Amino acid sequence: MILLDGKLTSEQIKEELGIEVAKIKADGKRAPHLAAVLVGLDGASLTYVNSKVKSCEKIGFGSTLIQLAATVSEIELLKVIDGLNNNPEIDGFIVQLPLPKHIDEQKVIMAINPDKDVDGFHPTNFGRMALELPAFIPATPYGILELLERYQIETSGKNVVVIGRSHFVGRPMSFFLSQKRTVGDATVTVAHSRTKDLATITKQADVIVAALGIAEFLTGDMVKEGVVIIDVGITRIADSTKKNGFRLAGDVHFESVAPKSSYITPVPGGVGPMTIAMLMKNTLLAYNRR
Ligand code: GUN
Repeated sequence: MILLDGKLTSEQIKEELGIEVAKIKADGKRAPHLAAVLVGLDGASLTYVNSKVKSCEKIGFGSTLIQLAATVSEIELLKVIDGLNNNPEIDGFIVQLPLPKHIDEQKVIMAINPDKDVDGFHPTNFGRMALELPAFIPATPYGILELLERYQIETSGKNVVVIGRSHFVGRPMSFFLSQKRTVGDATVTVAHSRTKDLATITKQADVIVAALGIAEFLTGDMVKEGVVIIDVGITRIADSTKKNGFRLAGDVHFESVAPKSSYITPVPGGVGPMTIAMLMKNTLLAYNRR
């Protein structure tokens, strides 16, 4: 069993990006700049956004964090987005999800200029991605593709099972892995909450992408020997023995699945850090396109 070390790989990617940014600065040009909008004080969202800002600093990007109260109106948020769309100093920006219930997430995503949509959530980018045109690829699927590529894991002709059909992970993952591309050409099955006899399906999988958001859902008896496991889940589970009061669990029951797998991503330290690295990569792409 080989660990797919997302932490190490993401550090390598950030170093590569840092070198490119140093060249940009040496040419006397302005550095790429990412902005993040955070609404409210959700603990997990705060952690993610702070990691994104820290990564910007590490690479040499400029960054702006805009924090808004959980009570902010949809109109106010849309005004902030309009400001970012029209600010020439900002190359790309994200609005951290989830948003409070009184705000229509889809409306917010639609308001983002697709050329600055480094999350790849806007329908224009989603459509371009599905049509295999140049697009911003959402950071989590992009990170998984990059991890599979850097570890030279063959997907061509393999049976891949994606568990979960979310707009930002499961669905795009299923597109990419079935497309004609370096990491692709697989036979993809998308499983979800209505799938019958899931274990029969997962037992035939050469690669499983677990992205359903239920802690430790995939267990050792559901997979075959030699399977490649990508665990997208990250759930906080109360644990009084931990200083911060919780531990992180993936969608995969690591103890029972790892011994049967050829490659597996740990949680934490697998897909999570890759997501941040690929957001940085998208930001540089946005800068270079302008
Ligand atoms: N919430 C959880 N993951 C993400 C992400 O990748 N982007 C945004 N905007 N919000 C998130």
